[in-house]
Amino acid sequence: NAGALWGGRFSSGPSPELAALSKSTHFDWRLAPYDLAGSRAHARVLHRAGLLTDAELDGLVAGLDRLSAQVASGEVVAAESDEDVHGALERLLLEEVGTDLGGRLRAGRSRNDQVATLFKAYLRDHARVVAGLLVDLVQALADQAERHLGAVMPGRTHLQHAQPVLLSHHLLAHAWPLVRDLDRLGDWDDRVAADSPYGAGALAGSSLGLDPQQVARELGFTDSTPNSIDGTAARDFVAELAFVTAMVGVDVSRLAEEVILWATKEFDFVRLHDGFSTGSSIMPQKKNPDIAELARGKAGRLVGNLTGLLATLKALPLAYNRDLQEDKEPVFDSVDTLEVLLPAFTGMVATLTFHTDRMAELAPQGFSLATDVAEWLVRQRVPFRVAHEVAGACVRRCEELGVDLDQLTDEQFQEISEHLTPGVRDVLTVQGSVGSRDSRGGTAQVRVTEQLAELRLRLDEQ
Ligand code: ARG
Repeated sequence: NAGALWGGRFSSGPSPELAALSKSTHFDWRLAPYDLAGSRAHARVLHRAGLLTDAELDGLVAGLDRLSAQVASGEVVAAESDEDVHGALERLLLEEVGTDLGGRLRAGRSRNDQVATLFKAYLRDHARVVAGLLVDLVQALADQAERHLGAVMPGRTHLQHAQPVLLSHHLLAHAWPLVRDLDRLGDWDDRVAADSPYGAGALAGSSLGLDPQQVARELGFTDSTPNSIDGTAARDFVAELAFVTAMVGVDVSRLAEEVILWATKEFDFVRLHDGFSTGSSIMPQKKNPDIAELARGKAGRLVGNLTGLLATLKALPLAYNRDLQEDKEPVFDSVDTLEVLLPAFTGMVATLTFHTDRMAELAPQGFSLATDVAEWLVRQRVPFRVAHEVAGACVRRCEELGVDLDQLTDEQFQEISEHLTPGVRDVLTVQGSVGSRDSRGGTAQVRVTEQLAELRLRLDEQ
């Protein structure tokens, strides 16, 4: 079996049952360009260590270049008999440059250090793609916030009316977690970049005088792993990226849920763009928020990928174990999922129409200005405990009379408390309430404008 990576001590090839179970080319072939880049770098360190002549290096690199082109064009793919991407590419290289020359490349490396390195390189590229898509989403939220500066809405806690807030403030509250996810992706990349496992061999390092730091730099890493066992056995980088992608999914799902609510007849806060909503096969009137629902659903899948990975890693002894082959599909699925989900979600957000009149109408309802009454009393030197009681009594009176807070007469205010002079009316408007919350991070328009600038600055840094 020309393609097999072992054989010396075996009297037969793998059984078909083992081969079927063992096989990973159907999901790890996507690592092929990274494996070839690793092979080129490896050929160079072998050459530097005096283990390849100039001519041999040239021959190998030329062969790897040809193979790269064939892989890129789809001209070559893994064969049925190949176990994994590394074995497949070794077979193809032997076919390309001959077994004598091709057979020299495997010296000083193992699939264990190869796969750990390539996997990192692949995930680094895709983490960057995800980060770019996240920037687009944050941008869309910032643009919507900017477009609606000044528009108010009911702010909620426990899904009940709490205090009026600016729509922009609320939209930006969905943007900041995504900015933190961007930070997480950046932190993750810094850590991964400094830890290239190539050169760790199967687990113990190499006796051939190869320089892992040279390989690391050539593959875009800043340093090689300080511990060859850890380099081949660790998969926290996979779990961590799975966490960040799951967190993105969860963050997006919270906005998704609100969009779903906002698009109901009962809320009627938003209208979805035709291009970013779906109809019903039977009910002609339907317009469904499928993108938001899929986002909500896929968040579950992303969380599942993370927990599956952690379960695979739990109690796994050092160093490499074949269990680790199970690390790829979940996180590949996580990045694939976000790469499809985020553009659609961003399109939905960017094209949402907000019914600001409706939001403004609802903003003061549910006695959401009661806190303003209490805080106004505090500014008149009334202790907050008393102020809270008095404002609560106003709400009770309003409920009895079936009116809103600003509809209480001066006399009715006075009956409730001598402290409630007509001056309280100043804070009984939504605009007054919102404008008064002007501490840093507050919902007053001056602060939200500042916040928007701060957010845009953070985006520029990406
Ligand atoms: N395909 C394997 C993986 O993804 C790498 C091969 C290591 N196999 C081995 N028997 N040491 O983890």
